[in-house]
Amino acid sequence: MPGVALSRWTMSYFAAALAWLVAAEALMAAGFGYPAAPFEAPETLVLVHIITIGWLSLLMCGALFQFVPVLVARPLYSDRLPLPTLACLLGGLIALLAGFLRMTTETGASGAPFAIASILLGAGFALALWNLGRTLWAARPLPLPARFVVVGLFSLAATVLLGIVFSLTLGGLATAAHAIEVTTHGLPIHVVAGLAGWLTFSAVGVSYRLLAMFMLAPELDGPGTRGAFYLGTAALAIAIPGGVAAICASGNVAVSLVAASLPGLAAAGLYGRDVVHLYRARKRRVIELNSRMAGVALAGLGATVATGIALLAAGAFVRHLGVVVFLVAFAWLSTLGLAKLYKIVAFVTWLECYGPVLGKTTTPRVQDLVVEGRAGKWFVLFSTAVWCGAGALAIDRPFIFRLSAAAMLIATLGIAVHLLRTRRLANVAPTLRIPKGVQPPHLLVCRAQHP
Ligand code: HEM
Repeated sequence: MPGVALSRWTMSYFAAALAWLVAAEALMAAGFGYPAAPFEAPETLVLVHIITIGWLSLLMCGALFQFVPVLVARPLYSDRLPLPTLACLLGGLIALLAGFLRMTTETGASGAPFAIASILLGAGFALALWNLGRTLWAARPLPLPARFVVVGLFSLAATVLLGIVFSLTLGGLATAAHAIEVTTHGLPIHVVAGLAGWLTFSAVGVSYRLLAMFMLAPELDGPGTRGAFYLGTAALAIAIPGGVAAICASGNVAVSLVAASLPGLAAAGLYGRDVVHLYRARKRRVIELNSRMAGVALAGLGATVATGIALLAAGAFVRHLGVVVFLVAFAWLSTLGLAKLYKIVAFVTWLECYGPVLGKTTTPRVQDLVVEGRAGKWFVLFSTAVWCGAGALAIDRPFIFRLSAAAMLIATLGIAVHLLRTRRLANVAPTLRIPKGVQPPHLLVCRAQHP
């Protein structure tokens, strides 16, 4: 990443995201929300949004503030905006959770918290979109990975707009016929736009670049990769704007979702083929922990798609929707997120500390900041626990699900301790740790770099 500045607030996003992940796992272990409560219950909505906004969206925003500039080789439009953005997102999420919890009370009066949530989440995500959008706009024509991110950002806008319509309608503040219709039938579009469009499509774009970068493999830009992009974009266009149009015209969203699934599956297949190619064509002989775990996450994505198809064929998709959402969130997105976090924290910390003195004095390697052997066992525990949890949901064993969630919690705390040690340079040999001219990093803020 030579020549690219470090994003000042990315570490704060990562810390906040991890804190929400720990909170979600603790709630699942305590038996809060699905499967103890129905999938559509307010408690489950609390859990789902702690995971999707608190953990996954904050993680993705933090990563994009750092990596969109890398994808397009230009600086981030503003390095100041991410802090107010984070404040809005955190405040908005807390208000949204308060709104869901109010729905469980006797009065059910959730209008005020939902209105605050809509304003703050709307403002926070709009600031993120503006900052990333201006950065991308200035870099046209965009390389392929960055185009995936653009589609991811459009999907984020759709997710948030639908979420705001739902919140205002549920809070009794929006009463227009179309708002009620979209709230009644539009939930699948919100879920697809959020999980498939925003989180998955953006992760795919960033992963093309990160896998190539961290495994020393050639960048992909061939017909297969373009095919994955165009088919995936077509699938999202059919599902999201197509789905909203279908609701307003006929109140039936199923047709557009089924039509979207075919190009969507083809795109997933082409992406899978590309990733196998990246692993095979890599120059780095030993596969590092982050790339091994990314492989596990990709297997998780494949298994999620297969599970979804099997459930559809058996006519049990709706009954087991919770299993599919759990698999997308944890077997795919969280496993990939934690794996890449492990490498990114080490890489960014290394650049921040030793970048300025490279070539002037002896510095440690990036890999000296981590101890993969010890960290690896927490990743194995995390993945195993996720699969046990999914199995427990599928066969309706809530107690085993809670034990699995507790194991996920322990594994996450183990990984978090490793991230903390990396940031503190605790794994670096004392003689190499702070050479002359190097300042130890702050935990949550990256020192500005001037390339
Ligand atoms: C950013 C990514 C997001 C993702 C991935 C996401 C995902 C989801 C999922 C999976 C559900 C269904 C959960 C269930 O039925 O148990 C849901 C429902 C809901 N979401 Fe989101 N969401 C996101 C953002 C938002 C935002 C920003 C808002 C509000 C401003 C919001 C408001 C809602 C509401 C009100 C519901 C309930 C709708 C109903 O029951 O009719 N969501 N979301």
